[in-house]
Amino acid sequence: MNDYEKIWEGYLEDNYFPSWARLVKTIEYSEFKNIVLNDYGKTKDLILDMLAGDIIIIKNAISKNDVKKIKDDLYEYSKSTPESDYKTTEVIPNFHVKSKRRDASEDKGTRGYKIQDGYDEVGHSYYFYRWNKDELKIFNKVKDLWDTVKIFNGLDINQYKNNLPKDKIIDQIQIIHYTANEGEITSHCDMSRWQKTNLTVSLTEKGKDFHIGGQYFLDENENRVYSEDLVKVGDAPLFISTIFHGVESTDYKGRWQLLATSIQSQCVKDRTISHSLINFKKNPKKVLESYRRNNI
Ligand SMILES: [Fe+2]
Repeated sequence: MNDYEKIWEGYLEDNYFPSWARLVKTIEYSEFKNIVLNDYGKTKDLILDMLAGDIIIIKNAISKNDVKKIKDDLYEYSKSTPESDYKTTEVIPNFHVKSKRRDASEDKGTRGYKIQDGYDEVGHSYYFYRWNKDELKIFNKVKDLWDTVKIFNGLDINQYKNNLPKDKIIDQIQIIHYTANEGEITSHCDMSRWQKTNLTVSLTEKGKDFHIGGQYFLDENENRVYSEDLVKVGDAPLFISTIFHGVESTDYKGRWQLLATSIQSQCVKDRTISHSLINFKKNPKKVLESYRRNNI
């Protein structure tokens, strides 16, 4: 724990996590790290901006060489490793799995998650856990960045790193390939109680790997706020995932994104779930209350 935890928790005593995007801003990684490590006042301002709905794109967060290596290694890994699907109810291996568009008659998604009205996820996901050997050196490549983000989130630099599913909160890296012309995720919000901000790293960029679609957020009028024009390979969009977000299907090579965050394992009974926009609007207050409560 560190001093920043008091800023986050103090805010949450009287407020809910945000649902709507305000501004999309950029900051160089070197400057962000310097602020987080050395400047309490500026860090506090950044935290409160994010709680007001700002999305911060950390520029040049990991090197383009490291991104290329990750994608090359995943290509080889997916060729040599069959698809499989595991739940985090126990210590599981790293794995990869495709999620397909659900059939309207199904009430379960490919991975067994409860599907709600208007919530669809189509893509090819690779999951990595800290208890496995870091064979592709993926945790290693984001270590400095993720450690800085943990501190910014008011966490201890090593918090959750040694956790196992039975400890209920675990670190997970999910790398998603939103395949061209089909990959997408519709507007939804996720719980972000422990690591307050999602750490994503863009492994592709608009204008080179794809020309249409990509990530968006919703503002308070439910208009889409597009962020891809500000994002290059190796940049790290940071956002509170209770803010409505989604990914529109792309063209050409599709879109690749790494997501590093601390999530509830499937050992948690009655896990707090993600909500589609339609589902959220049935009872916003109930969802916001559940996102503020720490159910662990
Ligand atoms: Fe999400």
